[in-house]
Amino acid sequence: MGKKAREIVGIDLKDLIKDLNKAYCDEWLAYYAWWYMSQTVDGKGYEDMGEFLGKIAKDELEHATELADRIVKLGGLPVNNLNDLEKNANNPYPGVMKNLHDYDTIIKLVTAAEAGAIEVYNKIAKKTFGKDHATYQLVTHIMEEEIGHEETFENLKEK
Ligand SMILES: [Fe+2]
Ligand SMILES: [Fe+2]
Repeated sequence: MGKKAREIVGIDLKDLIKDLNKAYCDEWLAYYAWWYMSQTVDGKGYEDMGEFLGKIAKDELEHATELADRIVKLGGLPVNNLNDLEKNANNPYPGVMKNLHDYDTIIKLVTAAEAGAIEVYNKIAKKTFGKDHATYQLVTHIMEEEIGHEETFENLKEK
């Protein structure tokens, strides 16, 4: 990002990059958690559950990619050490579970993490609204997908 672009953003870029980096870490944790669950889920109807998890895992990886791109454009460096992902995330790793066919726990973990993600992106959207248009557009787009994830898994609960 050049001088003029930095000028018109009109917000603390260091602070914004930090927020985006934390969200970037969340996305990696979510990607790994949902991907892992999608590969290992077991029990009745596991194929459907695996498919749902695989689909949202793919979205989270895409979010991480988009955030990395934005962080770099803003002049920052996405967290580049795996060991630092959880340390820098907003929330702890969301995928710890003992029983691979415990759908209630899967649904609980996913909906809680997605709700957390919605909060994170809502906060960044408020901060960037009317200032950093590109980041605003990106985080509202991501938030929309997190809302879809939460809804998908909330609906599974009602079945
Ligand atoms: Fe995401
Ligand atoms: Fe999500």
